[in-house]
Amino acid sequence: MLHLRHRIIWRARLGTFVAALGATVCGTALLLASPVSRSKASPAQVTFNRDIAPIMFRSCSTCHRPGEAAPFSLLTYTDAKRHARQIAEVTRGRIMPPWLPEPQELKFADEMRLSPAEIDLIQKWVGQGAVEGNPADLPPQPKFVQGWELGEPDMILKAEKPLILPPQGTDTYWNFIFRFPINETQWVKAIEIRPGDKQYVHHANLLVDREETSRRREAQPGAGFGGMEIRIESQVFDPDSHLLFWKPGTAPYPEPEGMALRLDKGTDLVLNTHLQPSGKTEVIQPSIGIYFTPHPATRFPMLLQLENDVKLDIPAGDKDFVVTDTFKLPLDVQLLAIYPHAHYLGKDIQAFATFPDGTGKTLIHIPQWNLNWQAVYRYAEPVTLPRNTVVTMRYVYDNSEDNPLNPNRPPIRVRGGNRSADEMCHLWLQVLPIHFDPEQGDPRRVLQEALARHNIENNPADFEAHYNLAAMLQAKGSVDGAIEEYLSALRLRPDDAVANNALAAALLSQGKPDRAEPYLVAALKARPDYFDAHYNLGNALAAQNDFAGAAEQFRLALQSQSNDANCEANLGSALAEMGRLSEAKTHFERALQIDPHHALAQENLQELQREMKEQ
Ligand code: HEC
Repeated sequence: MLHLRHRIIWRARLGTFVAALGATVCGTALLLASPVSRSKASPAQVTFNRDIAPIMFRSCSTCHRPGEAAPFSLLTYTDAKRHARQIAEVTRGRIMPPWLPEPQELKFADEMRLSPAEIDLIQKWVGQGAVEGNPADLPPQPKFVQGWELGEPDMILKAEKPLILPPQGTDTYWNFIFRFPINETQWVKAIEIRPGDKQYVHHANLLVDREETSRRREAQPGAGFGGMEIRIESQVFDPDSHLLFWKPGTAPYPEPEGMALRLDKGTDLVLNTHLQPSGKTEVIQPSIGIYFTPHPATRFPMLLQLENDVKLDIPAGDKDFVVTDTFKLPLDVQLLAIYPHAHYLGKDIQAFATFPDGTGKTLIHIPQWNLNWQAVYRYAEPVTLPRNTVVTMRYVYDNSEDNPLNPNRPPIRVRGGNRSADEMCHLWLQVLPIHFDPEQGDPRRVLQEALARHNIENNPADFEAHYNLAAMLQAKGSVDGAIEEYLSALRLRPDDAVANNALAAALLSQGKPDRAEPYLVAALKARPDYFDAHYNLGNALAAQNDFAGAAEQFRLALQSQSNDANCEANLGSALAEMGRLSEAKTHFERALQIDPHHALAQENLQELQREMKEQ
């Protein structure tokens, strides 16, 4: 009469974001200036007021104004004149405005590129002595929104404790945790990230942690924790869906209709930031503004993370180290956004799609990678990638002294890894499965399974891939296959608590409590307060008629998580089996307090009351 619960434990790898560069917050930029009026033939005399100001107001002032990331303003003739030579140089070299991708057929939203004609105009203006021109030609100054860009947020969360950034030293990577103070599920249409004071915060990524796993890494609650690339675990299949990214000059992005982000009670948001010392002590205390929507999500995108870090072993001095990876899509998707990621040695970064008919398209090409300007690129229109489209990534690394960003002088051998000194080869694709057939189940599972198999092929020692494949197989009911994959995962990390528990749960579901038991013991050795493992061990022992042992495990489980009706009911059942009827009754009643409709507790309580009357 025991109620056995199998928890499917899902774990995803996530995070892993870096950045650099003088950054900013607040009063983000909604530019209201009129678009550039570009006459075909370049005028004989180029003037600031007529020809240059429109370009600058549109493409430079978002960052080049007080309080923003850039080191000086570009709002007036005097500003521009003072920096004229530099302006000619950085626009000619396409260093400013910072925009890494080459032009391509598939357009990005908010493309920030000057046209060749505009660049010529700037060169000519500077060459002619940077003349001001007729004041009547000057367009109005751009207007920028002060404060929160999308209006007052519905909720503002501030990091509990600031980080004190020392005046000197190397780059700091810090994660701030925002505890989301809600009691019921909310849908979010936008989040504005204000990562802290300009100039020091270079870039930030917001990650969703639904299981409070990041909190365990804090030395004190609210203090946050260090680390460039972070991993978040989840116990249920809830793949990451949104790229919540901040860099200087980007406006917050309201999610399209039907694609709101779900936040539940107990959800934490983890802000992964990259900070650089400024020469004086800085206090960094980020905040986020959250905008809710009453409309729950109806469309569920997913982040596909291609990677091939295992191939990264770059000899010192190698200028052209190539890593590729290809992934064949198992179903039709729309590609919404792309986020390539490498560290300091990345040089030429490319992703392209080869369609089933053999034709192809570039998804992104960054000929001169610079992690300081990494970004999430959203497509102007969703890109349809039919089933069997092959997505290829091809990254070239430069580990020579010619690479100005190479942190090692002289260069040293560099391998793949999570530290900033390691290299990375990642490509995130935000995709939306096109067809949803309830018969087939959640199409994201199909993607996740294909991706896990692909990752195992690339790297048989990929723990997460084995684990995730196991979880997908178990969800499909292929328990034997799942057990095999859990075992592969455990060969790589024998002490992993979650994998041990998951394997045990699979064995329990096959009615093999004796085989499950040692894995549960191992899980609890690794994590003594692990609710699921105590709970499952209680079930494994009860199934072998060790009711005293089972009762002890259910009690321990309830110590780490007190409000669980199943666990109370099972504790009651174990006690009843031992003849401790009045104690058993208390626990059935507690189960019913937590969940008045708990069937097992109801049945058992009735049974118990009959038996107690007979005695
Ligand atoms: C997305 C924000 C952003 C935009 C847009 C932007 N800049 Fe910058 N700019 C910066 C930052 C940050 C720096 C300082 C860090 C650096 O040197 O990379 C900078 C530096 C510069 C410098 C100094 C370079 C040096 O070598 O010291 C010049 C000149 C410049 N920008 C011109 C421009 C011009 C002209 C435009 C428009 C055509 C523009 N920027 C658009 C953020 C921006």
